[in-house]
Amino acid sequence: MTASKIVTTLAIVKPDGFEKRLIGKIIQRYEEAALNLQAIQRLVLTRERAEGFYAVHKERPFFSSLVEFMTSGPVVVMAWSGEGAIDKVRDINGATDPKKAAPGTIRAQWGESIQNNIVHGSDGPETARFEVAYFFPGL
Ligand code: RTP
Ligand code: MG
Repeated sequence: MTASKIVTTLAIVKPDGFEKRLIGKIIQRYEEAALNLQAIQRLVLTRERAEGFYAVHKERPFFSSLVEFMTSGPVVVMAWSGEGAIDKVRDINGATDPKKAAPGTIRAQWGESIQNNIVHGSDGPETARFEVAYFFPGL
């Protein structure tokens, strides 16, 4: 039997995506890629929780602006599973900078700047494990 590699990744609809009412469209993209929704929650991040989530970026010049943005309104955090889920979500999201994102990706379609880019996706297996557990400790 071939072992299929089912992984779980964290995606977030950021405050700009929530404001633009894109939750349904974003979920549809992931579902169309045969990913399975494992958990979902709408919440407003506190400063502390956003800083903890983005701790890997704390030395970056954009850190405080990013935390400000991520706490500026509701977000929707989601855990998605499937074969190659981490890469699938990042491919669907598109490059960080919407101007450089491939046509048809979420960020190319709706992102407004390198910061206000609608969605988040975990960038590797370790990050995915940390990020999924950060919001969904039971998963
Ligand atoms: P994400 O973590 O949100 O999926 O995005 P990413 O991997 O493509 O980008 P990353 O380097 O992890 O950066 C995290 C988020 O920080 C904001 N950012 N701002 N002003 C800037 O130069 C800048 N660079 C990144 C974006 O919101 C980015 O998604
Ligand atoms: Mg990232």
